[in-house]
Amino acid sequence: MDLSDAKEEVKKAADIIEIIGQHVQLKKRGQNYVGLCPFHSERSPSFTVNQDKQIYHCFGCGRGGDVFTFWMDYHNLSFSQSLKDLAGRYNIDLPRYGNLPAEREKAELKELLFKTNRLAAEYFHNILVKSADGKPGRDYFSRRHISGETISKFKLGYAVKRWDGLINYLRSKNVSLGTGAKAGLLMAKKDGDYYDHFRDRIIFPIFDLNHQIIGFGGRVLGDSLPKYINTPETPLYHKGESLYGLDSAFKDIRERGLAIIVEGYMDTLVLRQHGISNVVAILGTALTSDQIRRLKGYTKEVVVLFDPDDAGRLAALRSFPLFLNEGISAKVLVLPQGEDPDSFVNRYGSDEFQELLEGAIPIFDFYLDQALAHMDAGVDGQIRVLREVLPIFKDLESGATRFLYVQRFSEKTGINEAIVWQELRHWENNRSERRDSSRLKGRFLLDQDPRRYGSDLQFLNLLVHYPETIDAFKDKEWALFVSDPEIIEIIRVLIEQFPLGGGLDGIEEFLDSPGAREQLRVVSMSKSFYAKELVNQAVSEFAKKIAKIKISQSISHAKAEGDMEMLNRLLRAKQDLDLVNKSN
Ligand code: UTP
Ligand code: MN
Repeated sequence: MDLSDAKEEVKKAADIIEIIGQHVQLKKRGQNYVGLCPFHSERSPSFTVNQDKQIYHCFGCGRGGDVFTFWMDYHNLSFSQSLKDLAGRYNIDLPRYGNLPAEREKAELKELLFKTNRLAAEYFHNILVKSADGKPGRDYFSRRHISGETISKFKLGYAVKRWDGLINYLRSKNVSLGTGAKAGLLMAKKDGDYYDHFRDRIIFPIFDLNHQIIGFGGRVLGDSLPKYINTPETPLYHKGESLYGLDSAFKDIRERGLAIIVEGYMDTLVLRQHGISNVVAILGTALTSDQIRRLKGYTKEVVVLFDPDDAGRLAALRSFPLFLNEGISAKVLVLPQGEDPDSFVNRYGSDEFQELLEGAIPIFDFYLDQALAHMDAGVDGQIRVLREVLPIFKDLESGATRFLYVQRFSEKTGINEAIVWQELRHWENNRSERRDSSRLKGRFLLDQDPRRYGSDLQFLNLLVHYPETIDAFKDKEWALFVSDPEIIEIIRVLIEQFPLGGGLDGIEEFLDSPGAREQLRVVSMSKSFYAKELVNQAVSEFAKKIAKIKISQSISHAKAEGDMEMLNRLLRAKQDLDLVNKSN
């Protein structure tokens, strides 16, 4: 059987009314079924499904197709994944990559593990809701205000305080203990025996989008540690890939155009119980780009709950480029000190939560606010924050976005924008600098001091922002104090090609190296170092700087030659220059 056969098989087996009917409420109307379109918002139904032809069409937004297009569109999946999902639903064998035995074996193992997980979940759940042994679990959930409805909707469970509770159950269902271990439910002892991984814990099954169980989380009832354990890596469960609750939230996320990301299982359940249905949780890891990509098909907006502390600030900073690069606008919601979503909603209710939600702030602003609130006074604090953001800025894929955020960053921190760009370039070009903050600090101090007219970048900044000053350096030996080769390239072009101080249009064409072109763009787009009224002063400072270097050189020369008369004259000239400097 090849792929197109499989596709036909699925088409024959699948009923479009059944498939779509699970996601859209359909009503029979004449030949067709109609419902509210899941792909655009509407109040009267124009989404139409035809059972005979096994097709659907929305007369409102024009989307339509067969079961496969529906599955792909609705779940935001590729065709091959949709084919797999649907074939799985109807037990249709797919050709496995040329029927390689290894591939077949892998697929069969996964099937077996899904089945094992399903059995285990039933076992844990039945204990919780039916058995006398489940009382500790029931008591726990009631203390945490979890309703019976939530327990059954999320198939919550309880694992008894025994080493062989699940073992006995799996045996009774003819599942080998080796399989239980591969599912991450049993652990192997040295002697080849097994024991239950989850003991005396309440159990949260973790579902994939097809409502199949890929793994479990388990929480202790008391204060012992670790508080939570999860299924280890298995063929079904990979850390950092899934989001808890997504299978039951994605429709609401799509409808509301917003996903709320929380940290914990309990947070998810309690918020859901309070009618906040567009909630998912990360599972004991930092937010990953896999997880963000999962959400992307359903919404372009996300609110994350990070703690307002150092860890939360850094978590926000790290997740910032992930969201930005996926084109998702992410905000942070800060809860009052000491509250998590669970405790907050239980205490204040969902209206208050919704109100807080309105006040969520963009993730980068959250980071900046936190960083500024905790920034040590002085240069060291600024450097620390600068070092935190450089790798993040580097990760931003779009240059335009980078410009925007560098600007915001410098406005808020008071660190000159041109310096941020300069440090970013250093950081990118020079790996050893990433660890060495003392050199950064050296440059930083030099450049932050407005009285210093020393740096290459400041000189370039002056010429670019005030091209009328270019002429003043035409005959001067400016190259004496500029050392950055790219900046030298730019200044040479400025002086040779644009000496009369008109606009700088077309200057890029004269620049050979990409580095120089980038540097020029950066300087042009960053702010001017010098206020208008300081321009003349800046020009004369640079001129003096050149003169001083020349005098120093001549002094060395006169010393070497033993020309005392010349030396005296030069030293006097130098003194004069210094005096002028001081009187400024
Ligand atoms: P928290 O310690 O904040 O717990 O961990 P919580 O969700 O508020 O849990 P309750 O309210 O005390 O029951 C947040 C999340 O981090 C993961 C879990 O996913 C948890 O829900 N976690 C935490 C672990 O994976 N292991 C741990 O030991 C602790
Ligand atoms: Mn909690």
